[in-house]
Amino acid sequence: MKLWEGRFDKPVAKSLEEFNDSLPFDRELWRADICGSQAHALMLYNCGIISEQDYNLIAEGLGGIAEDISSGSLEIGGAEDIHSFIENILTERIGEAGKKLHTARSRNDQVATDFRIYVFFAYKTLGEKVKTLINSLLVKAKEGLKLIMPGYTHLRKAQPICAGHFFNAYSEMFLRDLERLAQSEERVAVCPLGSGALAGTSYPIDRFMTAEQLGFIKPCENSLDGVSDRDFAAEYLFDCSLIMAHLSRLCEDIILYSTEEFGYFDISDEYSTGSSIMPQKKNPDIPELIRGKTGRIYGHLMGILTTVKGIPLAYNKDLQEDKEGLFDARKQVESCVFVMSELLLNISFKKENMFKAAGGEFCCATDVADYLAKKGMPFRTAHSVTGKIVRSCIEKNITLQDMTADDYRTFSELFGADIVDKVKAENCAAARTSYGGASPERVRENIKSIKKRLKKF
Ligand code: ARG
Repeated sequence: MKLWEGRFDKPVAKSLEEFNDSLPFDRELWRADICGSQAHALMLYNCGIISEQDYNLIAEGLGGIAEDISSGSLEIGGAEDIHSFIENILTERIGEAGKKLHTARSRNDQVATDFRIYVFFAYKTLGEKVKTLINSLLVKAKEGLKLIMPGYTHLRKAQPICAGHFFNAYSEMFLRDLERLAQSEERVAVCPLGSGALAGTSYPIDRFMTAEQLGFIKPCENSLDGVSDRDFAAEYLFDCSLIMAHLSRLCEDIILYSTEEFGYFDISDEYSTGSSIMPQKKNPDIPELIRGKTGRIYGHLMGILTTVKGIPLAYNKDLQEDKEGLFDARKQVESCVFVMSELLLNISFKKENMFKAAGGEFCCATDVADYLAKKGMPFRTAHSVTGKIVRSCIEKNITLQDMTADDYRTFSELFGADIVDKVKAENCAAARTSYGGASPERVRENIKSIKKRLKKF
């Protein structure tokens, strides 16, 4: 039965029905819809709009429907949308009282409320998964405390770093994500129920009561906005998109560092895949897939932004298009975050390669320039002298570590015997003791601080 068929002489065309119906996807909202209806019915009773007897029938009826959907004994189907489905079943089961549930409510405020409840819980589950991911990064950061690797700019070796610093950088990104999720969660917890179709209602309802009952912070303050606002959906998709951007960067690093060319990381067999034709291959399909899914999530964000941009106040059916992308994003992002937290624990380090690379390709050149500058040479001059040293090494096909103190002295009198130690990769990394720097001691501090900040969530 359609909720609105009274005004119509003929049933809707079959072909159109399928096009118009949202039940195939908004069934995902069934729990949220029942919660919203429970709160609405309780409020109607408390405000004297329905009788105690009707309320009891409705509350029990809805409870029974929830149980039956959960257990699988009630199959969702045969209605236009989840709201119609639940109301139809309720009326089938409890009779006339079921028809009173929709008093002082429209599907417009109902769906906006359901969707907010859904997104509110989506924030909770995603937040938990991000926390697990940061814990995996912390495990790797701790292992990396003893390791030195090259840090990069422009994907060219730049300066040696303690390997833990690399993992902590990603923890910082995901901590910002956690903070953003918590902030967005507050904005989604505003209740549109009671906004009616668009203008509120003439019944003596108590919107604060339903908001509180549902665990929302407050009711929305403008009914036109309440029924048509989907900022919260766009915001959830943005938050997911940024998480995916961070994951995708991490994937890119993992893919690069596990190549033969870099050779710093090894991904376990369980987290790698092979080729159907090239027997030697061990491919990083898992991080590639996460990197690839990032595009799909950005697509969902573009989708919602484009859907809402041309909508006149208040509710328009375009808004039915707000759900599928978000449902898919939730599923994809949660699984990507989970898979990454497992993948990290399946990565081992090729310590010698990392260490060797950190000393190579003049990674320690900045330290040579700093050495001279600390002895009184203006930094710009020291930079230029070091540039000449590097050039001469390239010509002789040697590294900074191959040079003796006397070799250094041919470029400047300021070089002492200690320069030989200063250009060792582990010493260069250890020297970066500025706050937030790449020395093991600072990395250890960073780990402590990440753990402390993580506890807040
Ligand atoms: N399926 C609809 C949606 O998702 C429910 C609201 C219908 N409201 C209406 N005025 N047709 O947006």
